[in-house]
Amino acid sequence: MLDKSSYQPYGLEPIERASRDEIAALQTERLKWSLKHAYDNVDAYRKKFDAAGVHPNDFKRLEDLAKFPFTTKHDLRANYPFGMFAVSQDRIARIHASSGTTGKPTVVGYTQKDIDTWSTVMARSIRASGGRPGMKVHISYGYGLFTGGLGAHYGAEKLGCAVIPVSAGMTERQVQLIGDFEPDIIMVTPSYMLAILDEFRAKNIDPRACSLQIGIFGAEPWTNSMRGEIEEAFDMDAVDIYGLSEVMGPGVANECVETKDGLHIWEDHFYPEVIDPATGQVLPDGAPGELVFTSLTKEAMPVIRYRTRDLTQLMPGTARSMRRMQKVTGRSDDMMIVRGVNVFPTQFEEQLLRCEGLSPHFYIELFREHRLDGVRLHVEARADHADEASRAAQAAMLAAHIRSVVGIGVEVTVADPGGIERSMGKAKRVVDKRPKE
Ligand code: DLL
Repeated sequence: MLDKSSYQPYGLEPIERASRDEIAALQTERLKWSLKHAYDNVDAYRKKFDAAGVHPNDFKRLEDLAKFPFTTKHDLRANYPFGMFAVSQDRIARIHASSGTTGKPTVVGYTQKDIDTWSTVMARSIRASGGRPGMKVHISYGYGLFTGGLGAHYGAEKLGCAVIPVSAGMTERQVQLIGDFEPDIIMVTPSYMLAILDEFRAKNIDPRACSLQIGIFGAEPWTNSMRGEIEEAFDMDAVDIYGLSEVMGPGVANECVETKDGLHIWEDHFYPEVIDPATGQVLPDGAPGELVFTSLTKEAMPVIRYRTRDLTQLMPGTARSMRRMQKVTGRSDDMMIVRGVNVFPTQFEEQLLRCEGLSPHFYIELFREHRLDGVRLHVEARADHADEASRAAQAAMLAAHIRSVVGIGVEVTVADPGGIERSMGKAKRVVDKRPKE
């Protein structure tokens, strides 16, 4: 853990200290450019703007952005693979794609300048997490079409760190390399960090004694209770990093290690709005809703009012003047409606971590019985609570916590230690076994 009493942020860029007026002026100027760039160079945007009766010249002030139509994943799929690109093919320096569970992947492109911007915001994110030039960074986000590995890699290099590009998987080797190379920072999904933690324990290596001081975790929702669990296990600072391929990749927003109070959005490159997902109305800061982003500087694939499906709220800046977003509670796609109650996997995670006899691994099974939807929560016992009586007691305790806090009845099934499958990237939290209508 870093000593927060003497902690000083290092090497802030001027924009990180800018006033709100300066930030708004920069955003206004950049939005003008981005709207025009999209309209002039991408047929799909021109058609959408024309159909909505708006033109980039209608944008004069930040509030005017609300006049422009939203972009969705559907638009990207409909223009697969390169129809959303705004520059000629010879200017494209990199292509990534998000796998997606169904249908075609979503393809994104970058010019060399976009790669530089991405590296800059990633370097800024690592710095906000407490990273410094000269540190060693172990990267366990997957390398490949997924933006996690390469995004983190370029950012860490730009900051002046030594990169250890391990990628995801081969958990035994991850633990061995952490022991041998002594990295200061690890970048990985929080669920895979738990699998790495299991491996430390299986090998009888004390995780608190390892070299890691900082973990930069994202790509999936995780709770403050999970932060506590990981920080305690490794004696490290755990900070949250957010991003999505369509907008750039990791490094759209990041927590500051000195406050850990939500993620500062790098608003000089990504303009956030929060909307009511049902009506599309822009909500005032502080109101919970769906996060929407407009890119301000992206050349290869500008996105205008892209609906992320991620649920959060905007808050004023603290450690930096740029606004914060609250930790993402979940995606609207992951929301389960159980007998009329809206529920997210993170709510189960929070209650699970209150049960000391259960490990933090879980998934949720939705089923239908006698025409009623049911929820079965699959968890696993910790090694020192694996006997039958403790398991039954832990299951009853967890079900009671969920009933009183979340407000729904669930069945809890407690597997043997190690019985829940480990994820190497984003954890799959919900398995829907209900018959398709
Ligand atoms: O997951 C980029 C990324 C890589 C972010 C590594 C952070 C670290 P996609 O695969 O396009 O990109 O998935 C984006 O993941 O819309 C959220 O639903 C979710 N997500 C990403 N970061 C967080 C986070 C990468 N910190 C989707 N908290 C997003 C909650 C997150 N959800």
